[in-house]
Amino acid sequence: MKEIKRTTVTAALPYANGPLHIGHIAGAYQPADIYVRCLRLRGKEVLFVCGSDEHGAAITIRALKEGITPKAIVDKYHAMMGKAFTDFGINFDIYHRTSSELHRKTSQDFFLQLHANDAFTEQEEFQYYDEEAKQFLADRYIKGTCPVCGNTEAYGDQCEKCGTALSPKELKDVRSTLSGSAPVLKPTSHWYLPMERSQQWVEEWINTGMLDGEQQHLASEWKPQVLGQCNSWLKDGLRPRAMTRDLDWGVPVPLPGADGKVLYVWLDAPIGYISATKQWATDKGVEWEKWWKSDETRLLHFIGKDNIVFHCIIFPILLKMHGGFILPQNVPANEFLNLEGEKLSTSRNWAVWLHEYIERWPDRQDELRYTLASIMPEFKDSEFTWKDFQDKNNNELVSILGNFVQRVFVLCNKYYDGKVPEPAPSSVEAGEQDTVLWAELHPLPAKVADEVDRFRFREAMASAMNVARLGNKYLTDTEPWKLEKTDPERVRTVLYNSLRIVGALSVVLDPFLPFTAAKLRTMLGIGILPWDDAFRNDLIVPGASLGKPVHLFKPIDDASIAAEVERLHANKPKEVAPTQAVAAKPAKPMITFDDFAKLDLRIGVIRTAEAVPKADKLLKLTIDIGEEVPRTVVSGIAQHFDPAVLPGTEVLFLANLEPRKMRGVESQGMVLMAEDAEGKLTFVRPAAAVPAGSEVR
Ligand code: MF3
Ligand code: ZN
Repeated sequence: MKEIKRTTVTAALPYANGPLHIGHIAGAYQPADIYVRCLRLRGKEVLFVCGSDEHGAAITIRALKEGITPKAIVDKYHAMMGKAFTDFGINFDIYHRTSSELHRKTSQDFFLQLHANDAFTEQEEFQYYDEEAKQFLADRYIKGTCPVCGNTEAYGDQCEKCGTALSPKELKDVRSTLSGSAPVLKPTSHWYLPMERSQQWVEEWINTGMLDGEQQHLASEWKPQVLGQCNSWLKDGLRPRAMTRDLDWGVPVPLPGADGKVLYVWLDAPIGYISATKQWATDKGVEWEKWWKSDETRLLHFIGKDNIVFHCIIFPILLKMHGGFILPQNVPANEFLNLEGEKLSTSRNWAVWLHEYIERWPDRQDELRYTLASIMPEFKDSEFTWKDFQDKNNNELVSILGNFVQRVFVLCNKYYDGKVPEPAPSSVEAGEQDTVLWAELHPLPAKVADEVDRFRFREAMASAMNVARLGNKYLTDTEPWKLEKTDPERVRTVLYNSLRIVGALSVVLDPFLPFTAAKLRTMLGIGILPWDDAFRNDLIVPGASLGKPVHLFKPIDDASIAAEVERLHANKPKEVAPTQAVAAKPAKPMITFDDFAKLDLRIGVIRTAEAVPKADKLLKLTIDIGEEVPRTVVSGIAQHFDPAVLPGTEVLFLANLEPRKMRGVESQGMVLMAEDAEGKLTFVRPAAAVPAGSEVR
């Protein structure tokens, strides 16, 4: 591998559709911030970019909900998120936004280059269109009757009453929320990225690190769950993915005949990292390209696990098809953080919001940062509880770190009038207790750095805290307060050593607890020490004045914690009653596995649907199950569904049922449906998109 001269660090661009909560921070931003701070303290060249993701349905949906324009939404949350990051000490070199002019131009140019490189195919599909408003309707612009619960206000992607995820074509009595009129199905063409063409190199690059005959990364350094998610996608086979949408909010597709079309948000958003870099470089009057195009640059994407395939597969394909860009050397994605036993959820208001935390716990950012770093979901999901926050604060920050620093400063104040004492000449690291102490202390900064380099932030912070633990132990073992009368010289050495430990803490804790580290520097009257000099002997100068001892951390009482937990529960919207369960029927007789294995079950897609003449219950359907000719089936669902809305619907299909003639038509299989207590039918559909013909086992 090439020698690395600089590192470009990106943190996922958060959607500007709501405030930030602790899950965002623990997932992507705090690990990125720790990593960047640690590199900087070690004198490395780093660029740290982020910004708001301001396009896509996430934004327009929120706008509909709040009854304001998408522009007003992104302006509001962009400002709010930018402030939250600054408040918590997460200092990007630039916090950009994808609604900017520079981003529009950058992503359009990127798209045009891909187009020129023949990276896309153009394909046609049917979608709802509002003839009055003259526009295609994204899911949330469609309302209709929920096929599950009968709610007449269900949206195209979800019924908020019963919670069912829907696709627009499943709704009955569909209407447009824009004009109120009934939309029609109309063909629309889009640009697709035929990802299957890249299957081979992506597979090799991810798993071996080899690309075009060069070693780009070591797969052994990638987290197992990141490799796992990529490989499960790759195993399913990469498929074409639409890179454009019919929406009125986004970056316009820069091609003739593409009126009303915008770039898919997952195409334009990651390009946001590049436009952010450009804006930063323009502001600074420096060049941007070396941060993205030099093989001496390491590119790292910090993200949450729901973003893995976009950063490990789709964006790398786009970068490579475009040409000239480096690919990420690692994507250290985190898993999810839960809260008090439940998933964090914006819509259920089950979250600790940063802007609220800072109001209720002013000047206590490091307490939250400490807790989050100590439970960071690096390899599996983890959980935040307020009790744990209290314990970590009281038992670790107060008792270990705060206590050590407090004792050192109180003693120096008392004995030396707030000045750094003069240690016994040449005995600083020589006494028996001192030799042991320094043998344990000296390796710690390198250990912390190594753990950070390997994205082991929990371990790294624990190693940094060990500096304080050792300091505490040193004071307890040497008991300088008992020696002042009998051996003042020894006391001066002990406290001088202790001040050096505080100095080192102001370095090794900076990535994790930047506010505390800054307070330590003020108390010591020193600037930022370089990482490798954390213990340098001459930085704490005998005779220099020290600042006042301050309480770095305060104990948190049970009442404040109980209030937080209560608040969480009080703010949670009342649960919707679940739809009534069907009275369980007695189980059918047991079958063998071999019996089961005889069934040929697949996912099919309805291509056409029409009424069967003179049969008011029957529809004739043709169903694509991945074979050359679609199957024809006759299905008794005419009273449940309007044939016009069925094409495109995914169904669970029994493909090896003996053919049977009904009303003169041969039915070649069966569509399987779920039925509720009232006999209402609904399709059984896969939870994620799979191609027609996928086996069900
Ligand atoms: N906005 C997306 C999310 O919150 C993340 C976008 S990351 C980027 O899940 F790469 F696309 F920018
Ligand atoms: Zn419903």
